[in-house]
Amino acid sequence: MMGYIFGKKKATQVAHSVWSHIVQKGDTVIDATCGNGYDTLAMVKMVADKTHSGHVYVMNVQKVALENASSLLDESLTSDERGLVELFAICHSKMEEVVPKGVPMRLVTFNLGYLPGGDKALMTRSETTLQALEAAKRMLAPGGLISIVVYVGHPGGREEYEAVQAFDSGLPVENWICCKLQMPNRPLAPIFVLVLKR
Ligand SMILES: C[S@@+](CC[C@H](N)C(=O)[O-])C[C@H]1O[C@@H](n2cnc3c(N)ncnc32)[C@H](O)[C@@H]1O
Repeated sequence: MMGYIFGKKKATQVAHSVWSHIVQKGDTVIDATCGNGYDTLAMVKMVADKTHSGHVYVMNVQKVALENASSLLDESLTSDERGLVELFAICHSKMEEVVPKGVPMRLVTFNLGYLPGGDKALMTRSETTLQALEAAKRMLAPGGLISIVVYVGHPGGREEYEAVQAFDSGLPVENWICCKLQMPNRPLAPIFVLVLKR
């Protein structure tokens, strides 16, 4: 956290640190925006153990992102760890169609925006992001976390952040804890939103 405040750590690194306090070995989790696979890799390391019961479901609409993520996972994981990951070329709003019904998720992560180094026209959109957040809400285990890193510095980013804010501010306080990390005097800095199910 101090590293983030003093500009030495990125919001995604803070997110990984928070996840590590929530996720346990053997958990089932979703990376709803896999990108180049760095978040996926961190998640596999958190769920993997000798029982091979953990699972990481991964989504992206972009073929190149899934290829990049697959290569990173192939290079970085043991074959047992790699076997815990399933990648799907679908929109995250359809996550309920590929994840087995009735399996509660400990963590669903969203790192919104466009693929780093990729086509900036292919970015997440408010409408499908909201549908995916609603799906994640239905699938989350008690004690589970929806983690959202939102980038407001590109076209459409501010509107998407407002959609995320409308989603989390409407959640009943009896069942949900919502929290965000934002730098008020850096209006274009990424915003980290945490939605925890009690
Ligand atoms: C900021 S990147 C994610 C970075 C990634 N988590 C990592 O560790 O490298 C956002 C990704 O969301 C993907 N994306 C855009 N719209 C999507 C959608 N509707 N469903 C799933 N992924 C989507 C983009 O293709 C892009 O790769």
